[in-house]
Amino acid sequence: MGELALAARSLDDNRSNPMDESRQAHQAPKPGGEKTVWWQRGVIYQIYPRSFQDSNGDGVGDLRGIVDRLDYLAWLGIDAIWISPIFSSPMADFGYDISDYRNIDPRFGTLEDFDRLLIEAHRRGMRVLLDLVPNHTSDRHPWFLEARSSRDNPMRDFYIWRDPGPDGGPPNNWQSEFGGDAWEWDERTGQYYYHAFLKEQPDLNWRNPRVRNEMYDVLRFWLNRGVDGFRVDVMWHLIKDAEFRDNPPNPDWTDGMPPHKRVLPIYSCDQPEVHEVVSEMRAVLEEYGDDRLLIGEIYLPLARLVAYYGRDLRGAHLPFNFHLIQAQWDARHIERQILEYEAALPEGGWPNWVLGNHDKPRIAARVGREQARVAAVMLLTLRGTPTIYYGDEIAMTDVSIPPEQVQDPFELRVPGQGFGRDPQRTPLQWDGSAKAGFTTGSPWLPIAPDVAEYNVEAERSDPSSMLTLYRRLLALRRKSKALTIGRYATVEAAGSLLAYLRETEEERLLVVLNLGPEPADLVLPGPCRIVLSTAGEGEEERIEGTLRLKGNEAVLAEMAG
Ligand code: GLC
Repeated sequence: MGELALAARSLDDNRSNPMDESRQAHQAPKPGGEKTVWWQRGVIYQIYPRSFQDSNGDGVGDLRGIVDRLDYLAWLGIDAIWISPIFSSPMADFGYDISDYRNIDPRFGTLEDFDRLLIEAHRRGMRVLLDLVPNHTSDRHPWFLEARSSRDNPMRDFYIWRDPGPDGGPPNNWQSEFGGDAWEWDERTGQYYYHAFLKEQPDLNWRNPRVRNEMYDVLRFWLNRGVDGFRVDVMWHLIKDAEFRDNPPNPDWTDGMPPHKRVLPIYSCDQPEVHEVVSEMRAVLEEYGDDRLLIGEIYLPLARLVAYYGRDLRGAHLPFNFHLIQAQWDARHIERQILEYEAALPEGGWPNWVLGNHDKPRIAARVGREQARVAAVMLLTLRGTPTIYYGDEIAMTDVSIPPEQVQDPFELRVPGQGFGRDPQRTPLQWDGSAKAGFTTGSPWLPIAPDVAEYNVEAERSDPSSMLTLYRRLLALRRKSKALTIGRYATVEAAGSLLAYLRETEEERLLVVLNLGPEPADLVLPGPCRIVLSTAGEGEEERIEGTLRLKGNEAVLAEMAG
């Protein structure tokens, strides 16, 4: 067997890997008797590759840099990395504009570097998920160059072309998410093309079976190399209304909202036929066995979100749940959202939780560093697969970017209103030096000013750091069936407290989170022993009756008996 095939299989075959052994231990039957799979028990870590680790001094992170840091990720205790796009790209939207789906952008490295990354990750018991961007290509992709060359080019219908509307302007009122019309006039062929994002990101026509087959082959290309799954970019955008009807105005639109929210995307997104596409993608993954993971990036209200599990669960394994990213930080509000989410899940649908990503302000910026610790406990104890955004584990916060250093096309097009995404994409702080151990060159985005305090090296040896908290939580999760696959049950709590149990037949864990700065009391559902406290006090103590939490404290306790 070749090295690649070995790498692809080593997760299952390499029994000497300590992480794999712990995985085996988790394959215990669920109460219903079903087996669970790795991504139900595991934790995903998102790498924004430009900002993770630079290995060649050009100021931009790369694949060799990721390989150099895999030992850190193994030490931290995550199970899979999802890497934002690394394919050939003119970088109009930093890799979310792909010009060759089957190659690695030279800024990130080569296909050989990728194969090495896969082998090295698998050796350490970690899976690798790629970021697939099937909704749109770069305008430099050969398909688009063909398609725009003439109206009768055989690839014309790979994209979405329309004649002008009755007034000679765009065919309808659809808006680009990055500001302005979603239609770009093509002088040469006298038609508009549709782009939900930048004009450099023309949308593919997923009603065309040839587009589907091309993209499914792209999936196979990477699956053949051994990848463990995909996060599918803007999955809910793939199919648009067949009649291209105008979107209705949004009655709730106000000035502070991004301009595209002036209309409700009723016709431009989330069309019923999208589910057929998703189930076809899923079927491609299943050609490779039953452990490849399909994640969908989907921003939709709950009822529409859970539809992406698909009929008979033939859709995405994990339609990303962004509730915690969007939530008002209030105990009752979040409690309600958890219950609504649990109730909305289809039978057998596996939950998941995301606390941050490269598109939204970091959790520490949203709720403050103290509450970010409480949020970490929440993320890693709720029922379902958690996704950690790189840097959140060391309490990185948003970095303010001077106007002349702005990189993000959203900020460049809609400046000064706080939509820019650079603040949450700054280089990971590996050590306290000026360049944070990220690069020897000039970093593509500024290093956080608080690098001396918040960095991997300093936090590794500090028992009260965020990094130590994450690592402890990840270790507890790995050991505990209740935390990974156990049931969720609400415990009655008031005010700023949120409390719940995670339980199996053998183990009951109580999680109590204080979402406010003031101390608060919880009447315990029974005697328990404190296993972890974010305040670092009272651990190992047995308590009964009332549990007093400090402000901004989170506690994990084992129920007696
Ligand atoms: C997704 C990505 C975002 C990107 C957009 C267009 O939302 O997460 O970063 O700009 O799609 O591809």
